[in-house]
Amino acid sequence: MSNVQIIKGQLVWSESANKLAALENGYLVIEDGKVKGTFSKLPEEYKGVSVTDFGNKLIIPGMTDLHTHAPQYGIRGLGMDAELMDWLKKYTFPEEAKFSNEEYADGMYDLFASDILYGWTTRAVIFASLHTKATEMLMDKLEATGLVTMVGRVNMDRDGGEDLVEEDAKTALKDTRKWIEETKDRYKRTSPVVTPRFIPSCSDELMEGLSKLAEEFGLRIQSHLCENPGEIALVRELVPAAAGYTDAYRRFGSLQNETHPSVMAHCVYLQDDEVEMLKEKGTFIAHCPGSNLNLASGIAPAAKYLRAGLNIGIGTDIGAGESLSMPSQLVLALQSSNMYWRMKDKGVKPLSFAETFYMATVGGGSYFGKVGSFINGFDADLLVIDDSSALAGQCLSLTERLERAVYLSERCLVEAKYVMGRKIV
Ligand code: GUN
Ligand code: FE
Repeated sequence: MSNVQIIKGQLVWSESANKLAALENGYLVIEDGKVKGTFSKLPEEYKGVSVTDFGNKLIIPGMTDLHTHAPQYGIRGLGMDAELMDWLKKYTFPEEAKFSNEEYADGMYDLFASDILYGWTTRAVIFASLHTKATEMLMDKLEATGLVTMVGRVNMDRDGGEDLVEEDAKTALKDTRKWIEETKDRYKRTSPVVTPRFIPSCSDELMEGLSKLAEEFGLRIQSHLCENPGEIALVRELVPAAAGYTDAYRRFGSLQNETHPSVMAHCVYLQDDEVEMLKEKGTFIAHCPGSNLNLASGIAPAAKYLRAGLNIGIGTDIGAGESLSMPSQLVLALQSSNMYWRMKDKGVKPLSFAETFYMATVGGGSYFGKVGSFINGFDADLLVIDDSSALAGQCLSLTERLERAVYLSERCLVEAKYVMGRKIV
């Protein structure tokens, strides 16, 4: 049984969307990088296998950051004084333009890769910039961390200003094809994802061409959807034949299907027919509550989407979001859902802690397969959390300890991290 690992500690995981499971002094058995099961007493067959004992530490599934922008790491926590479209022009596009400089990209991506490695994230779906060389540098660095990631070389052939725009749709498609061919089989844990920035940045020809490229190579697509009222009005003007923003993506082929689902970040403002469309296509919504607060975009009804059976995870959305901390995003998701209920719609009960934890683990993890829980057959992605300084000697249940650790994550330490059974921290 050389492929068996046994990890012992205080286990907490999501059993379903609104139910946490917990096991004190539990054994997590891993075979070939996958969870075999959780046990309070070690079954006979595993006697003799050495146990890695983390004592009183919490052991929880790793989290998936379903949407973030690596080249915006240098503007995080700055310039939150504008709404989306102005913020992009004033701060974001000038910063991303700097990634034509390989030395700058090297330094900033080193920092990004290191910070994401030591946080609560085990998987991530990431935007790079339109620069192929810098995007490949980022992919190399992420591969070296041991995290599992999907990374997109960003496409934009209009409205990025003169320093951040591709020559035309044909050149953009040619360059993207080359990048896909170079990277699709290069890594074990890092893969390319086709990335039209959003409709305002991409011509119809580019949007359609990118969907065809994704289909040809069997790749996924990521983009942004219904983040801000001004943005939504602009898309109505740009694609007048579509019934709305979501329908515009559908017409371009960007929503893909259940076997190759796309990720759409934000979805703050969706009409009922748009919710249905996303559900039918199996699209994953990346809920980014911190970003939506910083740019005054609004509050996405994440609880409503989750309970309607849509695929939904949580994203940090650097640099509109200020940090790579997933637990901070969980707290913001909870607080935002309280305010949505109070200020906007009494019919949408606030998210529970269990639902929010589920979105961050299984919700986003499902984009990668069976990921985000300790149920048999799931990939063994886990975090060992030292919450002793948040406990302050109190005697709490394991689920209470988890809740406290998420709210007080600044007092907790990620002591170890495993991805697919491999210890990377
Ligand atoms: N929509 C298009 N590009 C971006 C971006 O970089 N950040 C956010 N928050 N929204 C976008
Ligand atoms: Fe974003």
